[in-house]
Amino acid sequence: MVVYLVGAGPGDPDLVTLKAIKTLKKADVVVYDRLANEEILNYANGAEMIYVGKRAGAHSKKQDEINEILIQQGKKHGVVVRLKGGDPFVFGRGGEEMLALLKEGISVELVPGVTSAVGVPTTAGLPVTHRGVATSFTVVTGHEDPTKKDKQVKWNYNADTIIILMGVANLEENIQEIMEHKDPKTPVCVIENGTSPDERIVLGTLEDIHQKNINPPALVIIGPVVDVFREIQNNRSEDMA
Ligand SMILES: C[S@@+](CC[C@H](N)C(=O)[O-])C[C@H]1O[C@@H](n2cnc3c(N)ncnc32)[C@H](O)[C@@H]1O
Repeated sequence: MVVYLVGAGPGDPDLVTLKAIKTLKKADVVVYDRLANEEILNYANGAEMIYVGKRAGAHSKKQDEINEILIQQGKKHGVVVRLKGGDPFVFGRGGEEMLALLKEGISVELVPGVTSAVGVPTTAGLPVTHRGVATSFTVVTGHEDPTKKDKQVKWNYNADTIIILMGVANLEENIQEIMEHKDPKTPVCVIENGTSPDERIVLGTLEDIHQKNINPPALVIIGPVVDVFREIQNNRSEDMA
């Protein structure tokens, strides 16, 4: 009776950890959602598969249902794997699931994953910190729970690099607020479907990025490290010439 909260990494099935593979191999049941690359499920050969992918706009009620499924499965089986995209504790609601299970007396183990927040830019060749350019980065949600009474995201972050997850739907509105604190010419890089064969990289600035037809899932990276990325890209193409 253990539920493992397991990170599946950002998409590329080779970016799953050895510990995640070992845990999947001993699973009786796997509860997974939309962002987990389905290829990874093959490691759990013979386990029961339960899909609980969430649709936008139906988050809070659905999360209660997911918690209930995990509790029921946790009570029934020896090893339950809750597989989540990226890392389970980075905007994955893993903490909520863990608390719900612990309150029912069910043990929980954690298996971290490569979070898209860092794994996606690194795979693309974009360093989120760079000596002399960026000494800090912050990871923020672009889609705060709309039912919250007070907004926690103020967009006045001092970090040199800002990385926005779930940032597509409210991109224009959030960027407007960010421009109250940062130069509109600040470089921006958007990476759609990072680490996958469908990866698309879009470059721009705060003032024009919203015009570039961005589609989810995407990461928005803001700050001077985007210029370092351009330099890396230029050197890479010279390398190949
Ligand atoms: C609900 S959050 C979950 C994040 C996940 N727990 C993690 O650590 O990566 C989903 C958001 O992560 C980002 N994301 C996840 N995978 C991505 C990928 N392959 N490429 C770009 N962004 C990705 C997107 O911003 C997406 O809206």
